Amino acid sequence: MFITMEGIDGCGKSTQSARLAEWLEAETGRKTIRTYEPGGWPEGDSLREFILRGKKLGDMTELLLFLADRAEHVKRVILPSLRQGLNVICERYNDSTLAYQSSGQELNPAHVRRIIRSCNFPEPNVKILMDISPEIAMSRVKSRSSNPDKFEAEGLPLMRTVSSFYRLIAEDQKEKYIVIKCDGLSEDEVFASMIAALEGRLWRSR
Ligand code: TMP
Repeated sequence: MFITMEGIDGCGKSTQSARLAEWLEAETGRKTIRTYEPGGWPEGDSLREFILRGKKLGDMTELLLFLADRAEHVKRVILPSLRQGLNVICERYNDSTLAYQSSGQELNPAHVRRIIRSCNFPEPNVKILMDISPEIAMSRVKSRSSNPDKFEAEGLPLMRTVSSFYRLIAEDQKEKYIVIKCDGLSEDEVFASMIAALEGRLWRSR
């Protein structure tokens, strides 16, 4: 299984992906690795720092840097793990690029989508969207970090746009997406709702 977790900053992906990894490993009897983008490959930290904390770059430059990061991540981590029969849970993937890089001033979604498609990265079996109100997510981001990255620093206006894009993307790929409505739910409730939806998918794909 190759599962991706998507959502705006502060949506709770990391907490849930850790719990999901444990559950998936027990459920499938296969080792499960957790990884992330940008930077989830050996030596990927410096590219992550450059993209997230360096000076503001042009939207096309930024898009190509995220894709370069993904190319290396796919080649060195994702594909080798899938080929060994491991499950892979990846925090952020193609749809982060589509949602965030289409939200700038310079690129339209159709153009971004074409460029992503041309990379031919492997398709996840299931994509999970942690759908949360941008206000709640941003208050979490503010309380956990005094040193926000470039995207977090743009705050609510960016997160509102990205959140709307994510909903459109998930609507457009209903057969791939599990959308978890997180507002008002505890961490345990979010997890339970994710597992209930995922069990249905795994059962169907067996
Ligand atoms: P995170 O690792 O804390 O989720 O932060 C990564 C940031 O990078 C987040 O603000 C979203 C952004 N991002 C993009 O804009 N495009 C991408 O393709 C990816 C992978 C991340």
